[in-house]
Amino acid sequence: MKTLILFSTRDGQTREIASYLASELKEQGIYADVVNLNRTEEIHWADYDRVVIGASIRYGHFHPALDRFVKKHLDTLQSLPGAFYSVNLVARKPEKRTPQTNSYTRKFLLNSPWQPELCAVFAGALRYPRYSWYDRFMIRLIMKMTGGETDTRKEVVYTDWPQVASFAREIAHLTGNSPV
Ligand SMILES: Cc1cc2nc3c(=O)[nH]c(=O)nc-3n(C[C@H](O)[C@H](O)[C@H](O)COP(=O)(O)O)c2cc1C
Repeated sequence: MKTLILFSTRDGQTREIASYLASELKEQGIYADVVNLNRTEEIHWADYDRVVIGASIRYGHFHPALDRFVKKHLDTLQSLPGAFYSVNLVARKPEKRTPQTNSYTRKFLLNSPWQPELCAVFAGALRYPRYSWYDRFMIRLIMKMTGGETDTRKEVVYTDWPQVASFAREIAHLTGNSPV
């Protein structure tokens, strides 16, 4: 049996975190498939004994595909031990990096019919040179208002990789049925 790690990403950081989780799990003898949540026409659920979903925030929201996926596969998700992680830049501040203190994540858990046993919040990446003119302008404005990096030549990865490794260890011990 394997672990299914699904990710919803725009710029790739949530996928990088998914791959990192998979390699950490492998070190513990647990094999995982890493799959884009937007490309899941046929999932062979019988191959999996646990599921992890990761999604990033853009302009205050997860991708609508996340809710659609949860709704479509709710019965299966509820039958498997599950974990969720969110990725955003507010979480670059350690005090906003828990499911309770990160408003996007708290809201998701409040409203989601799927209640994963485990949940984590990871800081994402700021990659100014890759953004469109509009996005670069908007993100810089938000960074300026919140005391963040404003040099648009920079790419900064805020993800705390030891935190991701520690989440992988929790996932490895996941056996089911006590939602966060
Ligand atoms: C256009 C845009 C809008 C964003 N909006 C938010 C936001 O509202 N709140 C936040 O905390 N982070 C926001 N971010 C930061 C992303 O969540 C962060 O860059 C994350 O690493 C993206 O993950 P992904 O590459 O997997 O999509 C935004 C980033 C971009 C490029």
